[in-house]
Amino acid sequence: MSNAEQIEYWNGKVGETWVQMQERMDLALTPVTAALLAAASPQAGELVLDIGCGAGETTLAMDAVVGEGGHAIGLDISEPLLARARTRAEALLSEAEFIAADASVWAEESGFDLILSRFGVMFFADPQAAFTHLHGLAAPGGRLVFACWQPAARNQWATLPLTALASLLPAQPPSDPYAPGPFAFADAARVATMMEAAGWQDVGFLSLPFEMMVGDGDDPVGAAVTFNLRIGPAARAVREAGIGEAAKPALAAALQPHLQDGQVRLPGAVWLVTARA
Ligand SMILES: C[S@@+](CC[C@H](N)C(=O)[O-])C[C@H]1O[C@@H](n2cnc3c(N)ncnc32)[C@H](O)[C@@H]1O
Repeated sequence: MSNAEQIEYWNGKVGETWVQMQERMDLALTPVTAALLAAASPQAGELVLDIGCGAGETTLAMDAVVGEGGHAIGLDISEPLLARARTRAEALLSEAEFIAADASVWAEESGFDLILSRFGVMFFADPQAAFTHLHGLAAPGGRLVFACWQPAARNQWATLPLTALASLLPAQPPSDPYAPGPFAFADAARVATMMEAAGWQDVGFLSLPFEMMVGDGDDPVGAAVTFNLRIGPAARAVREAGIGEAAKPALAAALQPHLQDGQVRLPGAVWLVTARA
């Protein structure tokens, strides 16, 4: 997908769905957000940039720390998600700023002490050019800290629904593992080489395994089915095949064994990537 196609994709149905799922998504990713912010360690007074900020969870968290002497900017290409982020900022009386822009070319401000992203940097058509550009936005010695997914095989939240639906879905043609998308940065060695070529130094990868909570409440399995029908690789496959209703019982049966103490949890694994300019 080109960057222009990504803009269309994230401004269409997918953007609206992510808005509807914002609270559940932020809940599911709580352990990732905590580890990401701990690794990034934003400080009072810093100028910070959030790439692919979506509905603003990490931008708002950073803004609360950098305070009045600092400034947090969230960049995203999705108008529906940015609208949600701005509404949340207003409710929190946050000074965080949300800008609609393609992060691979946006250059209205530079000198960022910290550039952070929670799963927003794997969608560039030309990652090396984008990371070279981001390097130019950082202050000398500025930090880059982002979360990206490890290989799908270590992320059962993504593979379990697809496996459960295999008999209902058309055979998936082999796809380019490095194509823009959630798993484009799964190969750490490849990402490190790309980032170093883009000018980043001291590139490090910390492995973060975690349990993704995809359903709770009165009907945890039902909530987990809804989650899987809206977000992730299975949601896309189901949408394209038009098998929404038929998918529900198969998904429920596969998710039921993962219900424990009122919550459906599926294993996931993330790279926390750190570097400096
Ligand atoms: C997987 S979502 C993550 C959103 C948010 N960071 C979160 O964790 O909830 C990826 C985000 O990257 C954004 N995105 C994709 N390509 C982008 C680009 N070139 N510039 C800025 N944002 C981009 C999408 O619109 C989407 O909001």
